[in-house]
Amino acid sequence: MAVPLFDTASTLAPLRDELRAAIDRVLESERFILGPEVDAFERELAAYTGVAHGVGVANGTDAITIALRAMGVGPGDEVVVPSFTFYASAEAIPPTGATPVFCDVDPATYCVTADTVRAALTPRTKAVLAVHLFGNVAPVAEIEALGVPVLEDAAQAVGSDSPAGRAGALGTAATISFYPSKNLGCFGDGGMILSSDERIAEQARILRFHGSRDKVDYEQLGYNSRLDELQAAIMRVQLPHLDAWAAGRRDAARHYEQAGLGELVALPQPVAGASPAWHLYVAAHAHVERLQDALGAAGVACKAYYRTPVHRQPPMRQWGEGVELPGTEEAAARHLAIPMSPMLTRAQADEVVAAARSVSH
Ligand SMILES: Cc1ncc(COP(=O)(O)O)c(C=O)c1O
Repeated sequence: MAVPLFDTASTLAPLRDELRAAIDRVLESERFILGPEVDAFERELAAYTGVAHGVGVANGTDAITIALRAMGVGPGDEVVVPSFTFYASAEAIPPTGATPVFCDVDPATYCVTADTVRAALTPRTKAVLAVHLFGNVAPVAEIEALGVPVLEDAAQAVGSDSPAGRAGALGTAATISFYPSKNLGCFGDGGMILSSDERIAEQARILRFHGSRDKVDYEQLGYNSRLDELQAAIMRVQLPHLDAWAAGRRDAARHYEQAGLGELVALPQPVAGASPAWHLYVAAHAHVERLQDALGAAGVACKAYYRTPVHRQPPMRQWGEGVELPGTEEAAARHLAIPMSPMLTRAQADEVVAAARSVSH
């Protein structure tokens, strides 16, 4: 039995009629950009997350650039960012004029910690981009206690929870991606900035709209970066199901644990207190190529996402040169994403575990 890495089709199958009706509604409304669907979805996702404002933008990468600028980040500033993350987390920083400063992660959780962030702080640090990687929840309060504002990169963590609140409600602001494979995915590209700070939300609204409030007078150099009505309507159908899907992702992790996967590989560890809606379920193994081969031979899909950490990617060399991040190197060398979806069954988990058991020693 082949086990896919994701299973978006089964998750959306029961919603197809509702999704078609939502698409028709937009078609008939003849409003396609920044209309009532975007307004409503911004309010609904902000309420779900537990913040005051949502600002829809074109994708999760723009969301980071715009949120940083709305937080006052600009030329001469530094933004601390983990190197073990999707490239876009760091790529979004230089367009603000600021410099990325790479910090390490804890290879057990794949997230930044207060200690790894502290090691990267300088008097020029203006913000920390805390990435909730793979759906885990980085310790935002501990980082804020260092005296720096935190922007949460919650692209992979919609639906994840913690004692202090949901991922996306913990820092000064947060950013989300609706890339189709994400926990809440649209049918194209989309993103959102979340914040309870009225001024940041207002700045983000201006920046996404060419730096203008009305496309008549222009206050700053901005972007054309908007969420469209179709995508918002599609996600409004999905949002009421997000908690059930997040529970399904937690159940899938439990299936892996109960099937004995932890005896064979290092399982991802939730950050203390966190309840992750695992976006990717990422195991670690000292001989990861052997694990990859064994899973592949059994028809179990798997993928190494970030084998080369961001600070060693060629366009980042000017900021990554000489930076030593042992936790990042360990995570990069040993990680492997295995199947994860809200629909993953115990039988599928057993299949994955049986394949992992066949790894040659
Ligand atoms: C951690 C992280 N940050 C940022 C992004 C950028 O989002 P997008 O692809 O919507 O630009 C992604 C996803 O693609 C991501 O996984």
